[in-house]
Amino acid sequence: MIRCQLRGQLFEFFTSSGIFSYKRIDSGTRLLIESMILPGAGSILDLGCGYGPVGIVAAKINPNLEVWMTDVNERAVELASRNANRNRASNIRIIRGFLYEPVRQMFFDTILANPPISAGSNTLEFIVEGSMRHLKSGGSIQLVVKTNKGGRNLSRLLEQYYGRFEIIGRKGGYRVVKADFDL
Ligand SMILES: C[S@@+](CC[C@H](N)C(=O)[O-])C[C@H]1O[C@@H](n2cnc3c(N)ncnc32)[C@H](O)[C@@H]1O
Repeated sequence: MIRCQLRGQLFEFFTSSGIFSYKRIDSGTRLLIESMILPGAGSILDLGCGYGPVGIVAAKINPNLEVWMTDVNERAVELASRNANRNRASNIRIIRGFLYEPVRQMFFDTILANPPISAGSNTLEFIVEGSMRHLKSGGSIQLVVKTNKGGRNLSRLLEQYYGRFEIIGRKGGYRVVKADFDL
């Protein structure tokens, strides 16, 4: 089990081998959690939730939010569900599936992800392109990447699809970027 302090609160997460960063909170994930800008109300999506740290912290920071979490990995989804219970976060729905498929009819105020860069550049483009079909007007996508692995590609994609973006967190070779969706 991982025990850690995030955004000033203590969290406990069950993990298991085969799941992304199962021994400790990934540095990029930690930076995303510490930098993410959450809406006061509405719904958010944690895409590729793994064992659930991003969505669970968001749900605990703001219990008014409706937090949706998805992952293609069945074990990850099971762990995320156990971890939501363990951390007494009840404003969460977790569904297994490929990218946006489990939430295909839905629109969110914020989409958060530590994207699976190892899945290839197409996946990063699917995430950025797909976010435009799942954000409400005024919503934002916030992603963390390693600056020297995926950073340049992500900047290019955000410029291509959103026209501009800002860096809201930078530490230890990672950056968190945010792009706003205006209709
Ligand atoms: C870098 S990990 C981040 C996990 C978790 N958010 C965290 O920060 O610890 C990326 C996650 O995306 C999931 N993933 C990979 N390809 C996916 C896909 N096509 N659709 C949904 N999730 C996917 C992986 O199973 C993995 O849990």
